[in-house]
Amino acid sequence: MAQTKLRMAVIGCGFFAQNHLNAWGMIPEVELVAVCDRDPEKAEAARARFHAGRAYTGAEAMFQAERLDFVDIVTTMETHRPLVALAAQHGVHVIVQKPLAPSWEDCVAIVETCRVAGLRLMVHENFRFQTPILAVRKAVAEGRIGTPHFAQLSFRSGYDVYAGQPYLATEKRFILIDLGIHILDVCRAIMGEARTLYSVTQRINPAIVGEDVATTVIRHENGGTSIVDCSYSSQRLPELFPQTILRIEGERGTIELLEDYCLRITSNGAVEERSAEPDAPSWTAKPWHVVQESVLNLQRQWVSAWLDGTEPETSGADNLLTYSLVMAAYESAERNAVVVPWRG
Ligand SMILES: NC(=O)c1ccc[n+]([C@@H]2O[C@H](COP(=O)([O-])OP(=O)(O)OC[C@H]3O[C@@H](n4cnc5c(N)ncnc54)[C@H](O)[C@@H]3O)[C@@H](O)[C@H]2O)c1
Repeated sequence: MAQTKLRMAVIGCGFFAQNHLNAWGMIPEVELVAVCDRDPEKAEAARARFHAGRAYTGAEAMFQAERLDFVDIVTTMETHRPLVALAAQHGVHVIVQKPLAPSWEDCVAIVETCRVAGLRLMVHENFRFQTPILAVRKAVAEGRIGTPHFAQLSFRSGYDVYAGQPYLATEKRFILIDLGIHILDVCRAIMGEARTLYSVTQRINPAIVGEDVATTVIRHENGGTSIVDCSYSSQRLPELFPQTILRIEGERGTIELLEDYCLRITSNGAVEERSAEPDAPSWTAKPWHVVQESVLNLQRQWVSAWLDGTEPETSGADNLLTYSLVMAAYESAERNAVVVPWRG
């Protein structure tokens, strides 16, 4: 018997949703039943371009009219809590973009709402699904370097992120909650949970409100150390945006993700080097392809977890642990103190 497709909708058809919509088009197990954006032009443009069944300007009307299995929420964070609550009222499972919400209280409420309603919740935390980062994670999991005891995860760029996402320039809290959240999540995926952290932040660009440089040192549960450094004020050519540079050391070797996706593995005294650049789909464009393709990888994880009946890797509960690192980093920077993050 033919498998029926999962009926889904996308809420928010702005800048980043274009990647979600393109990627869903490559996943045969789903059907894009509807799109929703409070801006009617954006909703209609997405409906036409991605062959969605219907376009809506209000989520409530959409949930009332459509029979949906899940919804993909790609709006900015202040709208996530009410939109997830609406989805839960209608018994619809949820994927929601990062950051989960502006406050810890809202994040916990979102996770609790879905748990009580018995609904799946995945946070669209896509960096850990980037092809080069998956290659690093695989090499660590295979024991190529033994147990990791040190990691440096670095994202430093001077790219004008404010052009595509003007709201970033006015956020009181900026780089840690917008970008650092991704890199801290990759850090967790590779090095495990944090015991303590210390963070310093700076605002270099005078035209923005929040911090645009942050360096965080983490002591992990297993005794290992990580340095997570992020900057949107690093002028350097060639510009590396949006590459994450990694160095992971274990007792038997080192795994490095270097410029232009060069993956170098030093293991038991032998060195191996190869490109880990993704073979990206046609709708992606360099240099963003590594991020765009990770959207597809994440969506495939959601569908395969759904079909297997398992939890998605970046579930709401999992993402609270990443979000707690961001909160602890802000607290640490404000108090100039070592902070113990919430660990569940
Ligand atoms: N994971 C990543 O790599 C990545 C990259 C960029 C942005 N993001 C995240 O994606 C989210 C969206 O960012 P963006 O830059 O696309 O923002 P955007 O402002 O371009 O798009 C958001 C859209 O949502 C619509 N919208 C807002 N509230 C709505 C509501 N209640 N109902 C229906 N539509 C509503 C807006 O009209 C807008 O079109 C943010 O949370 C951002 O952090 C993630």
